[in-house]
Amino acid sequence: MRFIHFKNVDSTSTFLKRNYLKYKNFTFVSADCQTNGHGRMGRVWHSEPNNNLLFSLLIKDKELINKYNYLSLASACVILSVLNDLKINNVSIKWPNDVYVDGRKISGILLESVSNNQELEVLIIGVGINVNQKQFNNDLIHPATSLYNELGKNFKIHRLKRIVYKRIIKTFKKIKKGDNSYLLIAKKNNFLLNKEIFAEIENEKKSVKVIDINDDNSLKVIVNGEEKNLNSGEITFHI
Ligand code: BTN
Repeated sequence: MRFIHFKNVDSTSTFLKRNYLKYKNFTFVSADCQTNGHGRMGRVWHSEPNNNLLFSLLIKDKELINKYNYLSLASACVILSVLNDLKINNVSIKWPNDVYVDGRKISGILLESVSNNQELEVLIIGVGINVNQKQFNNDLIHPATSLYNELGKNFKIHRLKRIVYKRIIKTFKKIKKGDNSYLLIAKKNNFLLNKEIFAEIENEKKSVKVIDINDDNSLKVIVNGEEKNLNSGEITFHI
């Protein structure tokens, strides 16, 4: 069984963490409503019931698991390309895993893993895309938007789901073969490009300027006049 859909679940990602042994690679779990959706840094992922696309994808393929640092950015690029096809402009990727439209977040991605004896056993990629939700608790630091707010019409969530699923699988299969062409999308639509952000480098908070995304998916920055490559754990994101 590859597709599982819930009307209500605590979290599609938590469901997979509990049940991954029973399911195959690329099992896709979606939900109309999550009662305990979570995001990065232990944040709550708020999503109006029935109005958004919420899903998690199970990765058991060892080759892909070994390329885990590619998968969030690649998923963000897929979402950007789907939004572009729907004629949403000004879409950018906030490295490593958020999708923005005009500086407002429309999608967030959370990569989680289950390990056994120090070895990654499975990866779970959780994705939330704001689709038909109209109101958000917008604050100045975390403004949000949706497909509805950008285009003024409702979308069929199950159709969007199929498109996103197919493209993610296609992109992941390419990554397996060594084709990382998704990176061109990330480099071209890099929300952080030329911005000053704060990064934690060797336990010290430093202001850095973003200049590129590298082929290994790390972020190229200038710090104290020198080039440095940062991984996602090192960034605190104050722009
Ligand atoms: C983030 O921006 O912090 C990542 C948000 C990820 C939310 C999705 S919704 C589906 C899946 N289930 C969860 O509990 N979280 C992810």
